[in-house]
Amino acid sequence: MTDRIKYLLDEKDIPTTWYNLAADLPGLQPLLHPGTGAPITVDDLTPIMPATVAEQELSREREIEIPEPVRQIYAQWRPAPLFRARRLERALDTPARIYYKYEGGSPAGSHKPNTAIAQAFYNREAGIRKLATETGAGQWGSSLSLAGALFNLQVQVYMVKVSFHQKPYRRLLMETYGARCVASPSTETEAGRKILADDPDCPGSLGIATSEALEVAMNDPETNYAGGSVLNHVLLHQSVIGQEALAQFKLADDYPDVVIGCAGGGSNLGGLTFPFIGERLRGGPSVRVVAAEPAACPTLTRGKLAYDFGDTAGLTPLLQMHTLGHTFVPPSFHAGGLRYHGMAPLVSAALEADLLEAVAVEQTKCFAAGIQFARTEGIVPAPESTHAISVAIAEALRCKEEGRSEAILFGLSGHGHFDLSAYEAHLTGALRDEAYSQAGLDAALAALPTVPAPADA
Ligand SMILES: Cc1ncc(COP(=O)(O)O)c(C=O)c1O
Repeated sequence: MTDRIKYLLDEKDIPTTWYNLAADLPGLQPLLHPGTGAPITVDDLTPIMPATVAEQELSREREIEIPEPVRQIYAQWRPAPLFRARRLERALDTPARIYYKYEGGSPAGSHKPNTAIAQAFYNREAGIRKLATETGAGQWGSSLSLAGALFNLQVQVYMVKVSFHQKPYRRLLMETYGARCVASPSTETEAGRKILADDPDCPGSLGIATSEALEVAMNDPETNYAGGSVLNHVLLHQSVIGQEALAQFKLADDYPDVVIGCAGGGSNLGGLTFPFIGERLRGGPSVRVVAAEPAACPTLTRGKLAYDFGDTAGLTPLLQMHTLGHTFVPPSFHAGGLRYHGMAPLVSAALEADLLEAVAVEQTKCFAAGIQFARTEGIVPAPESTHAISVAIAEALRCKEEGRSEAILFGLSGHGHFDLSAYEAHLTGALRDEAYSQAGLDAALAALPTVPAPADA
């Protein structure tokens, strides 16, 4: 029997519920209101998202039902395949068993539609007509554009300027789905104009683009905001990835010793690994979980655990997370989806609880791993995903050195078909490792907000 058949799940095996790690994770702190310091309520969130999504954001329930119309759309590409990377194993001459869960088969080419479809569904149910969002490399923007097309919602995307210019075909994909895409910082919003006044050449960041999208949603009752990462409900929706992987490992009669995901805001990492962490917390097998982040935006390995804003202008609630400071603008490296100053509070709490480890990797090393993967397994990975591949290869080489036959699972969160200009830079030797500015980081950390003491009840 080939591996592909052995790990094959049926449409009926698409999970019927999302798994919420917040039910099992110790130490997760609530979102706080930046004005009062009080925990955020559903009513605080409904100006920018439907009540169902706001309830999911604050929920501590373990299982939340996936609406049938969402499952039906998932069925176009889910269950997503699990592969055994036998040719990569041979090339590395490792005794390790390497597996990867591939999310690039979705129409938009990544894991992001898992939440885009759900958020568009709930917004449509709530009678909303328009969604505003940010995007880095364009994977999230194109996923929300796809979901907007399927649920007949207008979508307005603020795309980080450096990626807007590096990745013109992502913008065209969004426009093909009917969305409007603008380079951020833009002159369309107060937040964008303020940044441009200070720095006309600002390359943009996910934090700035998020401020622009939030401003639009806050000022228009018919527009809601849809987030592509970081928030609890986004990681919740992504849990289909890890739940399927658990079922596939049962079919394979194996269990991973280590599970690896790249980390931008934490959504594919959380989606893949939280169901495994949940099993462990409920007495299941122990598993190492590794977050692979870029050395040029080292949120988990160099950031500070603090309450901070999720966007540059300070429009979001305060989130307790590892952060480089909401005003930090990372250098313009190629994995645009990883250029975010903060981390999902759920991922940060898991790191603090010693349920996961973090590693920072330089982009030249990641692209070399991506090329080795493409030449052995045939799939050209998204630049973001190459971070996970690089760590998986390092783990497989460690197994070789130690003579251990461990099972390694990593998330292949998307394909890199729209990122070939980055591969060109690597292949022609033009790609460089960019260092972040220590002075910029120190200044951003000094500008962390102070949390107001909650008023006495
Ligand atoms: C393919 C892919 N992987 C990973 C990421 C990082 O985001 P997250 O950490 O939310 O999974 C992105 C972000 O755009 C992406 O496009």
